[in-house]
Amino acid sequence: MMKPHGGTLVKRVDFSDGTIEEAEELQKKEISLDKYRDLANIAHGLFSPLEGYMTETDFEAVLKEGRLDSDIPWTVPIVMDSDKEEASLLKEGDRIALTHKGESAGILDIEDIYDYDKVDYAKSVFGTDSMEHPGVQNVFSKGDYLLGGKITLLRDPPTKFPNYRLWPEDTRVLFRENGWKKVVGFQTRNTPHIGHEYVQKAALTLVDGLLINPLIGKKKKGDFRDDVIIKSYEALFDEYYPKGTATMSIIETEMRYAGPKEAIFHSIMRKNLGCTHFIVGRDHAGVGNFYGPFDAHRIFTEYPDLGIEPVFFRSFYYCKKCRSVVNDKICPHGEEYRINFSGTAIRKLLMEGKRPPEDMMRPEVADAILSFENPLVD
Ligand code: ADX
Repeated sequence: MMKPHGGTLVKRVDFSDGTIEEAEELQKKEISLDKYRDLANIAHGLFSPLEGYMTETDFEAVLKEGRLDSDIPWTVPIVMDSDKEEASLLKEGDRIALTHKGESAGILDIEDIYDYDKVDYAKSVFGTDSMEHPGVQNVFSKGDYLLGGKITLLRDPPTKFPNYRLWPEDTRVLFRENGWKKVVGFQTRNTPHIGHEYVQKAALTLVDGLLINPLIGKKKKGDFRDDVIIKSYEALFDEYYPKGTATMSIIETEMRYAGPKEAIFHSIMRKNLGCTHFIVGRDHAGVGNFYGPFDAHRIFTEYPDLGIEPVFFRSFYYCKKCRSVVNDKICPHGEEYRINFSGTAIRKLLMEGKRPPEDMMRPEVADAILSFENPLVD
C-alpha cells in the first residue's frame, strides 16, 4: 500500500468527554466551517505529515522552497490567522479551544505567533498579487498574524455528504478490499463533461482503480454548487462506470485556485488517501488566465521525490474528422475540426435551461444539473 506523505499517517483525534470538558474551560477562538474542515483534514491525516498549523519556519520554507523545513514537498500554506487584538492576548505555550458556532471543535497548542507579508504569500502561492485572483483576495482577507502549533480534533465537522466522506484510513481499507494496487485519483471542482470522463477512463485503462474525488467546500462565484457536483456524478456513475473499478469520495476543503502549486497539494492529499497516481490535465486548479494550460504539468519536474505518479493529459476535445474525443497527441487534424469542452459554453446552455449537445455532456448529467433551480454558487 502507498506510503503516506512523510511516511506516517497523522492521527490527532480525541473525542473523549474528558478532553471536550477540558476544552470548555480554555480560552476560545471561533473558526469558520472552512477552517473547521481543514482542522479535521489535519487530524485525520489527509494533510500528513502536518500535525497542526504551520509554524513560521515551515511557512517560510513553503513560500521560499515549496517544501517544509524538513525538505518534504509542500506548496500551499495551512495556517490559522488571527487579528492584532486577538494575537496580543495570546502567547507561545498557550492552549486554546477552537470553536465553531460556539461548540468545541478542537484544541490548538500554540508554538509560535508571527506576522507575515501578504504580498509575498500571494506571489509565492498564486504567482500574482492581483486582487482579481480569488486566492489572493482570500489571503488579503486574513488577519495579520498566524498561530502555529499542533492541533487535536474533538468532533468531526458537519457534512452534507456523510456517505462520501472517507478519510485516508477508510480509502486505504477500501482499496485493499477491492484488491486495487494501482489507484488513480481524480480531482474536480466541476460537474463532469465528456472531456473529464475521457481523462478519467484513459487513466483507468492503465491502473486497477479510479477514485473520483470532488472537492467540496468554498468556491468562487459561478462555480457549480457542491450538491450539484455530487448529483451529476451519481448520474454519470449509474450509467457509465463499471462498479468494480471506479468509486467516489469527497475531500472537504476550499479551492485555492493556485494552479501549479495546488496541483502539488492536490497530489499530496491523494497520496495520503492511498492513490498511487494522480491525474493532471489542462489548466489544473486554474482560474481566469492566471496560468498557462500546462504550467501544472511542468511544476512536477521540481518534485522527483513527491512519491505519487502524476498522469498528465493534454486537452481533450471532440474532433469532427476523428469522430471521437481525442487530444493533440493522438489526433492529426486541424483546429477547424475541433469542438472544445468549454465550461463557460456548457454553463451558459445549462443556465438557459438547455441540455448541452451529447458530444459535450451526457444527457443524464445534464438532467441532473437542470433539476436544480440554481446550480451555481452566487
Ligand atoms: S479543477 O480546478 O478541479 O482542476 P476541473 O474540475 O474542471 O477543474 O478539472 C478536473 C481535472 O480535469 C483537472 O486535472 C483538469 O486539468 C482536467 N481537465 C478538465 N478538462 C479537461 C480537458 N478538456 N482535457 C484534459 N484535462 C481536462
